[in-house]
Amino acid sequence: MHNITLPSPHKILQVVHETQAEYTFRVQCDAQVDHGQFFVLSIPKIGEAPISVSAQGEGYVEFTIRKVGRLTDGIFGMEQGDTLFMRGPYGNAFPIADFKGKHLVVIAGGTGLAPVRSMLQYFYNNPQDIQSVHLIAGFKDRGCVLFEEDLKRFAQSFHTIYTLDDSQAEGFRTGMVTNFVKEIPFGEFADYHVAIVGPPVMIHFTALECLKQGVPEEKIWVSFERKMSCSVGKCGHCKINETYVCLEGPVFNYVKAKELLD
Ligand SMILES: Cc1cc2nc3c(=O)[nH]c(=O)nc-3n(C[C@H](O)[C@H](O)[C@H](O)COP(=O)(O)OP(=O)(O)OC[C@H]3O[C@@H](n4cnc5c(N)ncnc54)[C@H](O)[C@@H]3O)c2cc1C
Ligand code: FES
Repeated sequence: MHNITLPSPHKILQVVHETQAEYTFRVQCDAQVDHGQFFVLSIPKIGEAPISVSAQGEGYVEFTIRKVGRLTDGIFGMEQGDTLFMRGPYGNAFPIADFKGKHLVVIAGGTGLAPVRSMLQYFYNNPQDIQSVHLIAGFKDRGCVLFEEDLKRFAQSFHTIYTLDDSQAEGFRTGMVTNFVKEIPFGEFADYHVAIVGPPVMIHFTALECLKQGVPEEKIWVSFERKMSCSVGKCGHCKINETYVCLEGPVFNYVKAKELLD
């Protein structure tokens, strides 16, 4: 029987350099993954870390990884054909069944685009399943822009606002994502959901801006990254009050998430 806590070897099929600090690794994998779930990636004797699935397809999953420390340094040294260890998929997912037939607003900051990318690709490929998608994606500067090809494709089908924090470039507006929330026509939507992904401070202020625009708390969903160890509810590393983020998250409705956000 497959032991879900045991890492297994997987071949790297492709490496895409998105930015200097963020690479996307396509890895051979047949697992069924729901949009928003994550795997724990590892290199023996170096370490392990949870990483969201940023895309999936026939026989593969993709991870978009920011180089920040021990494990991610090690992964950035790997190439096509090398072997990565992983266990999962873990965690819950965005409630796609609830989103279907409604309007969807996605607000993402930087690498936060990774955990919502596969969901966006799903609705891009299945437009009959959603009324409309409004995407606000913010990046620090032009050099930090991820998924360039996807962003161009999404702009053809979705209502998109792409932003850079304080610089200017063609196709981008200048300012924090929070500045643009007021441009979403919430009042015109019969029913909708909002997904917010990014660093905790970005989630906090973006959710507040949505509430200011009249969005009810229960329509807001967030996915957040919490330091984890086992990722299967055994070690308590991720626990906030009585909540195991690795089991009940990483996706939370804001009604619950507001208690968990620091
Ligand atoms: C559910 C979930 C999904 C995630 N998805 C993604 C994803 O899609 N892509 C992604 O890039 N990341 C993702 N992360 C975050 C990722 O797991 C962390 O960045 C992870 O810590 C990287 O491991 P590492 O060993 O490379 O870095 P670590 O060595 O753990 O370092 C992480 C951070 O801690 C700092 N640090 C390390 N050691 C010390 C020290 N001794 N003192 C002070 N600071 C220190 C580092 O500078 C760095 O900022 C996700 C996390 C969760 C929980
Ligand atoms: S990471 Fe071990 S209980 Fe959640």
